[in-house]
Amino acid sequence: MSNRLSSSGPIRVGVIGTGGMGGRHVRNLTDEVTGSQVVALMDVDAARMAEVAAACGASHTFSDARALIRHPAVDAVVIAAPDRFHAELTAACLAAGKPVLCEKPLAADAEEARRIVETEITGGRRLIQVGLMRQFDPAHLRVKELIASGALGKAVAFRGIHINSLPHAPRMAEEVITNSVIHDLHSARWMMSDEVTRVYVSYVPYAGHSPETARLILIQLQYRSGAVGQIECNAEAGYGYEVDVRVTGENGAAETNSLRSPVVSYNNQRGQWVEEDWLQRFDTAYIHEVRAWIRALQTGVPIGPTAWDGYVSMLLADACIESAKTGKPVDVDIPPMAALYAAANG
Ligand SMILES: NC(=O)c1ccc[n+]([C@@H]2O[C@H](COP(=O)([O-])OP(=O)(O)OC[C@H]3O[C@@H](n4cnc5c(N)ncnc54)[C@H](O)[C@@H]3O)[C@@H](O)[C@H]2O)c1
Repeated sequence: MSNRLSSSGPIRVGVIGTGGMGGRHVRNLTDEVTGSQVVALMDVDAARMAEVAAACGASHTFSDARALIRHPAVDAVVIAAPDRFHAELTAACLAAGKPVLCEKPLAADAEEARRIVETEITGGRRLIQVGLMRQFDPAHLRVKELIASGALGKAVAFRGIHINSLPHAPRMAEEVITNSVIHDLHSARWMMSDEVTRVYVSYVPYAGHSPETARLILIQLQYRSGAVGQIECNAEAGYGYEVDVRVTGENGAAETNSLRSPVVSYNNQRGQWVEEDWLQRFDTAYIHEVRAWIRALQTGVPIGPTAWDGYVSMLLADACIESAKTGKPVDVDIPPMAALYAAANG
């Protein structure tokens, strides 16, 4: 069954959650994408929603997310509300038969994500794209292409580094894993075109806070192919935002370099600026992500991270949480990919 939306005009999008990420999606859909129009918004913060509506010209504002999803003027939905609402809102989009770009994580845990995947499979067509947007970052894509081309030989090791800058209140290890590390877990699979079969987590709690808080998390990975990997996620580095990956092959290695600023030499120093936050670091990726989503809706050919990717990344996240709690390695049993997702690309 085709996913193509039949409307000949722009794809009319409703956005749920108009904060940092939702606001950026609204801006990109309005200014950077041909063929989309943000027509509806929903947020519990009415003042924030009114500000975003005035900037993008959305004519419908809602206090009830389900009313937005059901509204006949909305062709497709972006979910950028806080993580805990993602699963129920995505399920409501499936029930309404509307395509959805759901921010990560797809759900609160793997069981919830599995139910969404099953509902999508029952419906027989892919309606969900998950906001695991590093797949749209040009530097990540270049590394992926190099590895996939075979030029560097068989991939034997993955390394991901994820440095968060903003001063958060200390967060529990569980939240850092499902909210931040989820990106790295997805990268670890996508970059290597391989599945992780074992995770082993150690972490540093915040001094003076509960031992379950995590300031820095280190994860060792074992892959099905025999390759190995490591993810370091610093929840609050205090100096800037950096995300990079390195993949080592049997004949070479490729890595991204998140430092894009000019190199400045001055006063006996030479250096570069580190970007401030994810909106700077991944500004291009967020634009490419929504462009690809709208294009997929226009052509009926889905692209990018699927609900299956959202589910498997949650399986890994659940295993990481168990490993963090027990201090032991945890095996992960990834089921065979359902046929609906076999043709996934990007
Ligand atoms: N893909 C990425 O790189 C990336 C980056 C940042 C955030 N995110 C995700 O985007 C989502 C939003 O994060 P953010 O940084 O924009 O947070 P934020 O706090 O800036 O914005 C969240 C918005 O949701 C609104 N909200 C709260 N409860 C709501 C509800 N029940 N229904 C609708 N709206 C509600 C808030 O009022 C706020 O405007 C989160 O799920 C987060 O994980 C993804």
